[in-house]
Amino acid sequence: MLKTHNCGDLRAEHVGSEVTLAGWVNRRRDHGGLTFIDLRDRSGQAQVVFNPELALDTKEIAGTLRNEWVIQVKGKVNKRPAGTENAKIPTGAIEVLVSSVKVLNQAKTPPFYINEESPVDDALRLEYRYLDLRRQRMRDNIILRHKIVKHIREVLDARDFLDIETPILFKSTPEGAREYLVPSRVYPGKFFALAQSPQQLKQMLMVAGFEKYYQIARCFRDEDLRGDRQPEFTQLDLEMSFVEQEDILQLIETLYTSVAKNVTPEFTLASSPFLRLTYEEAMRRYGSDKPDLRYGLELHHIEDIVKQTEFTVFKNAVAAGGIIKAINAPGCAGYSRKQVDELTELAKSKGAKGLVSVQLAGTGSIETLNAEDVRSPVAKYLPLEQVKAIAARAGAKHGDMVLIVAGDAKSTNASLDGVRRELADRLKLADPKTLAYAFVVDTPLLEWSDTDKKFVSTHHPFTSPNLADVPLLDSAPGKVRALAYDLVCNGYEVAGGSIRIHERELQQKMFGILGLDPGEIEAKFGYMLRAFDYGAPPHGGFASGIDRWAMILAGEKSIAEVIAYPKSKSAADLLTGSPSPASEAQLKELGIQVRQQ
Ligand code: AMO
Repeated sequence: MLKTHNCGDLRAEHVGSEVTLAGWVNRRRDHGGLTFIDLRDRSGQAQVVFNPELALDTKEIAGTLRNEWVIQVKGKVNKRPAGTENAKIPTGAIEVLVSSVKVLNQAKTPPFYINEESPVDDALRLEYRYLDLRRQRMRDNIILRHKIVKHIREVLDARDFLDIETPILFKSTPEGAREYLVPSRVYPGKFFALAQSPQQLKQMLMVAGFEKYYQIARCFRDEDLRGDRQPEFTQLDLEMSFVEQEDILQLIETLYTSVAKNVTPEFTLASSPFLRLTYEEAMRRYGSDKPDLRYGLELHHIEDIVKQTEFTVFKNAVAAGGIIKAINAPGCAGYSRKQVDELTELAKSKGAKGLVSVQLAGTGSIETLNAEDVRSPVAKYLPLEQVKAIAARAGAKHGDMVLIVAGDAKSTNASLDGVRRELADRLKLADPKTLAYAFVVDTPLLEWSDTDKKFVSTHHPFTSPNLADVPLLDSAPGKVRALAYDLVCNGYEVAGGSIRIHERELQQKMFGILGLDPGEIEAKFGYMLRAFDYGAPPHGGFASGIDRWAMILAGEKSIAEVIAYPKSKSAADLLTGSPSPASEAQLKELGIQVRQQ
């Protein structure tokens, strides 16, 4: 190799050794005839010193070196003179006294700083991703991701799982996110779809008898991007035969605990064993199926308290079969009009019609609350006794502010979930070094889609209903609980899975409930049903979002920060400038004519 040591590995014990290093000039400083270079490679950096008195012929080259040039130096490891040590970096006790230097390649001035964490435009970072990835934070993130995946493989290999690849060119199937279609040259007018997940393929591996499968699988979904979503992402996909829900939950817990303990021991697990919430409880207490459980700030139903009200917003909500919920913002009685307006706008952006604030001034127990202590735009509609009862329910005291939303269950929960997260952020309630894992179980099997005017799967159509609820499939499909589970952590859904249907009859019935007629079922899923005809074992599994897992453990807010080459917010690859037009010849070969939009 062109080097004998990694820059970041040198320590006091190397003092006196002759070493050859190769890497990038991170920074250059000139001091009283000496040139100091922080030389960087993947492992970190070392200070190399050009002293013309020791090696005159290095002087000229040292003077030309610029940031990001690639150089090779030979020299002797020296203990840094007393008082010049740098305790902040692992190599801070030593330096390398250069005896010879070779420029391996020069570099233009980069479009942004690589040697410091200054904010850089996202698009520029993606266009020059190879430079962005040179920055320490990004390098650490990519290395952390590698360690997570490596540890996952170790845990699963030790438990007898087989790593099996499945195709990415797959069949277009309904009932999921929008797909990426791939035209077939051999069959003009026909298309593959890029796999959204290996769901059906892993189930057929169970039919094939592999019993314990996993894969670090690439998935593709043409859905709207958010911080925790990318069109191309990675799952730990896993499936097991002859298991029940509890077996899978235990395995997930073992895996996540082991990764936290071994890869990121600086984190604390909020609860071990992991907390378990039913879907109903999660929605009731937090307004979300992926609550952040590092803090309380629970939501409380208050319909019973305000049912005798003159306030039309509350009255109408209840009359329309909606709900009214409150959250306490501790210590926020002094919020300004502007601060309350910001929260109201946030609630509205999540679908609420408005946000009622009730600020509780004064001191003492809530029993001593009097009308002058209550500051609210709707104070005249809220008798003091109601305010006291709401405050008691929400756990509010003098000095706090209660926030209330009334409306349909969906928008009320979504808006208060948003307010809850925002309050936690403002009040700094979420400890960044805590991992609050929890299982959300008993998810509804189906949900009503207002757009499609039919039931759709909450997870996917292969999820088994809770067998106790099967009789409800015909009479009250919306009430059927699934044998499905999600793992949530710090407000994100990090994994999801289920026990699957493994019998043709039930699977066929499910497709029917989802509005597919027998012809469609055969055309779209005939192969799955046929597989179930040949001795399909009971099976179940889950998939973890590797990107979200790494994002949380890296302390990042977007999965793009833990993906080497993510897509931009508008789903483009800015590094290569794709998607890009296809040539006339390619389109002709594929039998495709592009329509002008
Ligand atoms: P699901 O669709 O819930 O389940 O996905 C499982 C996990 O994958 C992650 N994830 C994503 N990560 C980044 N970008 C996205 N666009 C994205 N979509 C999902 C999440 C999620 O929890 N086949 C089933 C799993 C199963 O039933 O076994 C599936 O794909 O962390």
